[in-house]
Amino acid sequence: MNHDLQVLFDPAQIATRVRQMGAEIQGWYDPGEAIMVVGVLKGSFVFMADLVRALDGPINCEFLGVSSYVGTHSSGAVQITQDLRADIADKHVLIVEDIVDTGLTLDYLRRTLMARNPASLRVVALLDKPSRRKIEVEVDLVGFTIEDLFVVGFGLDLDQRYRNLPYVAVLQQG
Ligand code: IMP
Repeated sequence: MNHDLQVLFDPAQIATRVRQMGAEIQGWYDPGEAIMVVGVLKGSFVFMADLVRALDGPINCEFLGVSSYVGTHSSGAVQITQDLRADIADKHVLIVEDIVDTGLTLDYLRRTLMARNPASLRVVALLDKPSRRKIEVEVDLVGFTIEDLFVVGFGLDLDQRYRNLPYVAVLQQG
């Protein structure tokens, strides 16, 4: 099935915003302080690749796999499909998410990672759909806030498709 895609954020808009986000994130940490950047798989890998290049100073890149979505609907139950290999105790952890929707994934991740005693835990997301929240969750920095739309591209998928689009598009299902 092919879908109708409408560009919401083009590559230039995303690049500009990611640069601004990098500068803002840098200000959260002392100069030279190491950041453990934790990408939430799979959706965040494209955004994370750009974001880490907008940061200078020592960083570690780690990944964590979760799943809660089937098709365009969240099943509600969050599962860790691939845990972190690294110990995050006493580290400055920065969670990188593609999008915050119901907030269930992030709430679960925050609680799970806080229990491992990091020195700090902050969250950045490329996109945010606040109108869909089922649980209140703190996001330290958001690239773009959007309406209740299903979006794909720049890492985000529909059943594993469209992650490679260099822009964020709204998917019209037909
Ligand atoms: P939450 O737990 O409902 O906040 O869902 C978070 C996850 O659902 C994100 O990390 C995405 O992988 C996925 N998701 C939520 N909204 C969209 C969307 O519009 N397009 C693609 N994936 C989405």
